[in-house]
Parts: sequence; structure tokens; C-alpha cells
Amino acid sequence: MEKKNIDWSNLGFGYIQTDMRYVSNFKDGAWDEGGLTDKATIEMSECACVLQYAQTCFEGMKAYTTEDGKIVCFRPDLNAARMADSCRQMKMPVFPEEKFVEAVIETVRANAAWVPPYGSGATLYLRPFMFGYDSVIGVKPANEYQFRIFATPVGPYFKGGIKPLTLRISDLDRAAPRGTGHIKAGLNYAMSLYNIVDAHEQGFDENLYVDSATRTHIEETGGANIIFVKGNTLVTPKSGTILPSITRRSIVQVAKDYLGMEVEEREIRLDEIDQFEEAGLCGTAAVISPIGKIVDHGKEITYAGMGPKIQKLYDTLTGIQMGRIEAPEGWIQVIE
Ligand SMILES: Cc1ncc(COP(=O)(O)O)c(C=O)c1O
Repeated sequence: MEKKNIDWSNLGFGYIQTDMRYVSNFKDGAWDEGGLTDKATIEMSECACVLQYAQTCFEGMKAYTTEDGKIVCFRPDLNAARMADSCRQMKMPVFPEEKFVEAVIETVRANAAWVPPYGSGATLYLRPFMFGYDSVIGVKPANEYQFRIFATPVGPYFKGGIKPLTLRISDLDRAAPRGTGHIKAGLNYAMSLYNIVDAHEQGFDENLYVDSATRTHIEETGGANIIFVKGNTLVTPKSGTILPSITRRSIVQVAKDYLGMEVEEREIRLDEIDQFEEAGLCGTAAVISPIGKIVDHGKEITYAGMGPKIQKLYDTLTGIQMGRIEAPEGWIQVIE
């Protein structure tokens, strides 16, 4: 299979239309067979539930070319399970988890020419999503839904690649207690748009949210979880209002089982973050992006950037994803 003629090493994080996508429709209480299509646009009623009441949720995951030339996916079963959780919370029909993984495999296989080569620093980003399709004018869930997965080759999420990030402690909130912060609902991102544009205008890379009930604990950023390091200990927030990041859960296991680190998953007070030595954002898109500085209303807290522990975590995690380091059982789904 011949790869597309793309300058893989200079890709940003943007949408490039690829050849095929997976589509399945839910109607009269059941999902249809589903399958691949080359049609990259969607036609729907002006009154579709997703357009009026934002009934949509999504996932984000990646396919990689490994050192020995295989195409693989990282823990797609966890994306399937998280999407099922999102759907249940949004009163949407669950797309069967096994079928989700099969659909991911089909989509990647059909776009194999778009999977960036090993060593290019780029990957194939996959976006499974679902939305309420039919007309709804009273506030209620839709009756009909579409599940879709498209693929697009991407480079680093943050401009400047591995340059340490500067975050600010946000004055605005991302997630309410007993709200939707723990699922991947489109609405969580819609309400963060004002704040991210403002952060960029003020010279920050991202907003770091605190818990909205007490504003005393660290939560996450708009698109990634956060990890801190002190000595040989990895510390990461435990909260019911953050997204359960698959990358963060993997890093916790890598830290314990591969690097012999202590791990604390617990509430992290805003007034203790100046005691950590290293910090990073973690997620499918962010991978592990080192943090150089967190600004709390004029108070600047600095970190080592790509310090020794964050570097080790990064090298081990990406080594597992790219097939250089043996993965724990079940983490790597070989596609071809
Ligand atoms: C709000 C938020 N937190 C955390 C993450 C990281 O999750 P994951 O590691 O599963 O990609 C994401 C998505 O990447 C996100 O949108």
C-alpha cells in the first residue's frame, strides 16, 4: 500500500479529509448494519436534536505505525466503554462496545495510506462520535441517531511541539458537581471555547480548571488531565468531575509497573501545587506535554518542563504505543 504524499513531519493538529469513514444509523430502536462510506458530509433536518440541544458525544483515539511497520491502535476497548458511559448519561443509545472496536479497525484499515509512517512524529487521529439526528423541538432526546468515525492524520496538539506549556488558573468553570464533566459530551467543550480563546489572547496555552464547588482543588484543562511529580511520586487529581483519561490511567500503570514510582491519585489542593517539581498534561492529543509554568493570578509557579521523570514517562508510554517496549496484555490492538 502506497502512503499519501504528505509532509508528515510538519503536520499540525487539524482536519484533513481522508478516504473513508464508518457510519451506522439508529432508527426504530435498533442500529443498522453500519459500514464504510466515502461521503464526508452529513445532511439532516434543521431541527435535528444535535443542532438544537447539543445532544452529542465523542471519543478521540489514535492509530500508530510501530517500529516493525504494523498499524496498531491503543486501548480502543476503553474508548468504547467510555463512549457507552457518555451515551447513557446523554440518553443516547449505546453503540455496542465490540462493534465499536470493529468499526475502529475497519476505519483505520480503509485509510491505511493515511497512517503516518513510524518516526514521523505524526499519527492517525480517530474521531468516533454520535449525535441525535431527527427533529426535536420540545426538550427531549432524539429518536434517531448517527454513529460515525472519521480519521485524520495529525501532528502535535500544542504548537511548538515539546516546548513547556504555560497554563493559567481559570476564573471560569468547566464542570459542575453532578454535571457532565466526567463524560465526553460536546457541551463540555462548547462552554470552554470562550475561555480558551481568552487564554490564548492573554498569552497562555491552556486553562487549568479548579473544582467549581469550592475552587480549592485542581481538576484538569479543557482537553487533558494533569500529572505532577515530586521525587519518585506521581500525583494526579482524583475527582468525579474530570474526564477519566485513558492516557492518564495508562501512565499511572506505567509509573507503577515499569518505572517503580509511587502513585497518589487524590484531591490536589491549589495551594500545594508549588511543592511539585515536574508537571505535564496528558491525553490522546497532548500525549504528555510538559508544563513550564502555572500562573495563579500573578503568582507564577515554575516546573522543570521536560524533567527527568516526565521524560521517562513519555519515553515509556510512547515506546509502548510505537512497539519499542513490550505492552501490558491487551493494550495494543493490531490492525494490520
Ligand atoms: C477534557 C479532557 N480531559 C482529558 C482528556 C484525555 O483523555 P484521553 O487520555 O482518554 O485522550 C481529554 C481528551 O483527550 C479531554 O478532552
